[in-house]
Amino acid sequence: MTEQSVSIRPTGAGVGAFVEDVDLSTSLGNSGTQDLLSGLGEHGVLFFRDQTLSPEQHLAFAEEVGDIDINRFFKPVENYPKIAEVRKEPVHKVAVGERWHTDHSYDIEPALGSILVARELPSHGGDTIFSNMYKAYDALSDGLKKTLDGLTAEHSTRHRFGAIPKSPELAKEYEGRIGNADMAVQDSVHPVVIRHPISGKKALYVNADFTTGFAGWTVEESQSLLDYLYAHAAQEEFTYRFQWKPGSIAFWDNRATWHKALNDYHGERRLMHRITIRGEALSA
Ligand code: SIN
Repeated sequence: MTEQSVSIRPTGAGVGAFVEDVDLSTSLGNSGTQDLLSGLGEHGVLFFRDQTLSPEQHLAFAEEVGDIDINRFFKPVENYPKIAEVRKEPVHKVAVGERWHTDHSYDIEPALGSILVARELPSHGGDTIFSNMYKAYDALSDGLKKTLDGLTAEHSTRHRFGAIPKSPELAKEYEGRIGNADMAVQDSVHPVVIRHPISGKKALYVNADFTTGFAGWTVEESQSLLDYLYAHAAQEEFTYRFQWKPGSIAFWDNRATWHKALNDYHGERRLMHRITIRGEALSA
């Protein structure tokens, strides 16, 4: 088997690294794949430029790094049930993923990460911002770290994907993009501070889209501390803003980062293909 050597150049900002001189349309080989996964655990998100990947090659790359975890809410790409579409058309106002979040935290075994391939980009904007949850945790005071280290939090999607049919406006907005609201019944509880399965580092694991509160706390009690953590973890020093170009790919780790899609290109189409990689139960 051909082995590709993986050269990783950190962005120099709060999170992420560029992987250079690889061709994702062919196998990375065993050691290339292992190097890529440890780079992912270390840097939180890996960016690739100038790749030409068919949907089959996107699937082959995903299967080389792990097992595919099919998202049950996103519309799949026609003829490719394992690839989710992240689409915004000129008629849409809302971009899928426009709030800070991490994918699948509502699952008992949250996804390891997602591989997003740019298919059609707007003439301007449509960047994705990532934030580093290792750094967000490290920058907290010792006192708050101690409090958070002992907590678990509840995550759900009932109030997000599950709520779409209850609002005619949202139902219209997401029609043909997000569905299966009846499947939004999976809640989960995870440590608020996890030990990252690859890097072994501690990371803050709550997010504004899917975390509903600390286990054993009221919604009101939870919300003020969660709001503090959300503002803290979104600080620019922890982030990197990735500008998409034709041929760009981002592979992020959902346990080490948050991301959000910037919705600044109304009236234009943006179409991305996302494959999500299966993860594992998280521990403190
Ligand atoms: C996502 O949240 O999975 C999509 C991010 C993006 O479209 O940039």
